Amino acid sequence: MNVLFVLGTRPEAIKLCPVVQFLRKDPSRFLPRVCVTAQHRQMLDQVLEVFGITPDHDLNLMRPGQTLSSTAARVVEGLAPVLEQEKPDLVVVQGDTTTTFAGALAGFYHRIPVAHVEAGLRTGDIYQPFPEEMNRLLTTRLSALHFAATEWAADNLRKDGVDEERIAVTGNTGIDAVLYVAERLEKGLEQAPAWPQLDPGRKLIVVTAHRRENFGAGMLNLAAALRELARRTDVQIVYPVHPNPSVTGPIRQALSGADNILLIEPLTYVPFVDLMRRSYFLLTDSGGVQEEAPSLGKPVLVLRNKTERPEAVEAGTVKLVGTDTAVILDHARQLLEDGAIYRRMSRVHNPYGDGRSSERISSLIYSFHLKNKS
Ligand code: UD1
Ligand code: UDP
Repeated sequence: MNVLFVLGTRPEAIKLCPVVQFLRKDPSRFLPRVCVTAQHRQMLDQVLEVFGITPDHDLNLMRPGQTLSSTAARVVEGLAPVLEQEKPDLVVVQGDTTTTFAGALAGFYHRIPVAHVEAGLRTGDIYQPFPEEMNRLLTTRLSALHFAATEWAADNLRKDGVDEERIAVTGNTGIDAVLYVAERLEKGLEQAPAWPQLDPGRKLIVVTAHRRENFGAGMLNLAAALRELARRTDVQIVYPVHPNPSVTGPIRQALSGADNILLIEPLTYVPFVDLMRRSYFLLTDSGGVQEEAPSLGKPVLVLRNKTERPEAVEAGTVKLVGTDTAVILDHARQLLEDGAIYRRMSRVHNPYGDGRSSERISSLIYSFHLKNKS
């Protein structure tokens, strides 16, 4: 079975590389091929390197400050010759980025079935997150196979009218990735950075933020909250800054030189997992970090008003705090000062997967192929 993986950004790579690796273990059944759009360049390459994956095709699309429209158009156009050359039995896309949606559209235009990994996430608001919620809805319409991480996501697909036989609950492949790296760090098989700047006597707060709906006021409110938090002598803040110019510009302007806030470049995956393990809690608007942190037993304050990942919120280990400075500070202080609240939020649990999602997806993909051939 010739399976073409199409991926473009850091989270897609983190969540699809474990599946590519799994298919590679079984060459008698699978010929996995990888096409990167390189919607992200540096952050994508960082992940491919960790998983030892060299793409078979590289569209090298990233442009500084790219727009949604131009990226989408270039992905569809760039994939056409690749699909014609590869003639895959299945195209696999993951998540809700421009590459995900445009990759699924390109597959459809070539009448190739598309499998969607991490299907069925919904907030119910097409502008939160923007444009990801619409990308999810459109990718669902374009796909033949839907791999939902949880029962809740599968239910969303059923409500959208997707045939039951095309839906499978597999867990999230991002949990395969994070548990794999965490175990290797635990066993000393991966080298964690030394972090001489970190003081083990202080509580580490790790921050990431990049959502389009938080550009402008949201980012500035976050910066104000971080400045205030950083005045405490019992904490230290590490913030790997997303390279989108709409993030780096305002954040570096607001926080460069601030005492007790370490602004750094995006970390490669192994050091970032290590940093999450060392953290006291995380402040983030990232989808992937919301999923990984509960598996590591780390509380998360989510810089959003709505989430498409309600399971950990319901379990009480992730809280939605939005981007109001006072509200962020209030919740951060509770975690730092109230032991009972902290203990409740730092319970290890795995609502999004058990580390075996890639294995399940591989066998489902092959069954689909056999059925299609017969
Ligand atoms: C994209 C996805 C978002 C996902 C996020 C993960 C879309 C519309 N957005 O947002 O869903 O959550 O990735 O991080 O698909 N840049 C670099 N180097 C990199 C990556 C990005 O310099 O390695 C800069 C470039 O100037 C680029 C800009 O960031 O033009 C924006 O990248 P883009 O992929 O369009 O949007 P993200 O905000 O990264
Ligand atoms: N991540 C990373 N280095 C960093 C920050 C995040 O490797 O400096 C990882 C993180 O562990 C998670 C993924 O990147 O697996 C999340 O990506 P991002 O927040 O960019 O996108 P989202 O998940 O919001 O789509």
